[in-house]
Amino acid sequence: MQKMQFKTSNLAFANVTDNGFYGQDIISVKQFDRSKLAYIFKVAEEMRTMVERFGSADLLQGKVLANLFYEPSTRTSSSFAAAMLRLGGRVISINEVRYSSVIKGESLPDTVRTLECYADVIVLRHPEVGAAALAAKYASKPIINAGDGIGEHPTQALLDLFTIQEELGQVDGLRVAMVGDLKYGRTVHSLTRLLCLYDVEFDFVSPSALRMPEEILAEVREHSLPYRETEDVNEVISDVDVLYVTRVQKERFEDPAEYERFKDFYVITPKLLQRAKEKMIVMHPFPRVYEISYEVDSDPRAAYFRQIQNGLYIRMALLAAVLGKA
Ligand code: CP
Repeated sequence: MQKMQFKTSNLAFANVTDNGFYGQDIISVKQFDRSKLAYIFKVAEEMRTMVERFGSADLLQGKVLANLFYEPSTRTSSSFAAAMLRLGGRVISINEVRYSSVIKGESLPDTVRTLECYADVIVLRHPEVGAAALAAKYASKPIINAGDGIGEHPTQALLDLFTIQEELGQVDGLRVAMVGDLKYGRTVHSLTRLLCLYDVEFDFVSPSALRMPEEILAEVREHSLPYRETEDVNEVISDVDVLYVTRVQKERFEDPAEYERFKDFYVITPKLLQRAKEKMIVMHPFPRVYEISYEVDSDPRAAYFRQIQNGLYIRMALLAAVLGKA
C-alpha cells in the first residue's frame, strides 16, 4: 500500500527557534547536557513513529544539506542523506573530494564557504582532528561533525546512547565495556565523554598499545566514575550490561605490521557470549571487520543493526533541530 506523506504545515511545532540547537554547529559531545539529550531523543522517537507510519514528511521541504566527506563512509553519509530526504529536503553529496576542487588545492574554509552558498547545513567528515571546529569558524550555516580524524564523532555517540537507553531502558547504573582500538577509535572517545553525564562504570578493554587516551581517562576521573583497564575481555564479559566493540582503525596506523598484529586481537563469539548476562547488549559502530563473528548476529543481544537504524532517527532529529523545525 502506498504510504501517505506526513504534512506538518499546520502543526505548531513546525517552527522552533528556541530549542537550543537552531542555527548551532554540532562539533563535540561536550555541547550536550542531559536535558539537551532528552530533547533530541524525544524528537528521534517522534521521527521513528513518523517514519514507521508515513515513511516521509515535509518538515524540511525547501532545505538543502551538503554532505562533505573527505574520508569514506557508508552509515553516516547515507543516514544523513536519508534523514534529509525523509524530511522532504534535498542533498548535495561530495563523497569523493578527489573529484571536487579540493584536489586543486582548495582549502577547507573556502570549500565550506562555497557550499553554504548552496546549502542550509553542512555535514563534514575530515581526517584531521579539529577540522569541524575550523569549518565552523568560517561558515555561517551550521556545521555537523561527522568524524574528525581520531577526535570525535558526536552524532554516532548520540545514536549509541539512544540505543543503550532504548534497549536497556536506562543509562544510570550500567556497566559499559569498550573493547578494541580505544586509542584511534573516535566513536569510543565521544561515547565515553557522553556517558560521563550518567552514573556508569567503565571497563576499557584494549591491547596496551591501543589504550584509551589519557585525556579521556582524566575526564572520567573528573566525573568520579569508576573505570578499569584490561587486555582481557574474559575478565569482564560476565559483568557488563553493554559490550561496545570497535574495529582496529587500519587507516590510522603508520606501520602496516602493527595493524596486522592487532587486527584480530578480539573476536566476539557465541562461546564468549555464553558467559554474558541474559539482559545485556552487544554494540558496534560498524564497519565490522574481524571483531564480531557473524554467528553472533542471530543472538537477540546483538544490537548493532538496531543501532544503525537508530542513526536515521537521531540524524533526522538533529537536522530538524538545527534548522529550527523540531
Ligand atoms: N559508524 C560510522 O561512522 O560508519 P561509517 O564510517 O560507515 O560512516
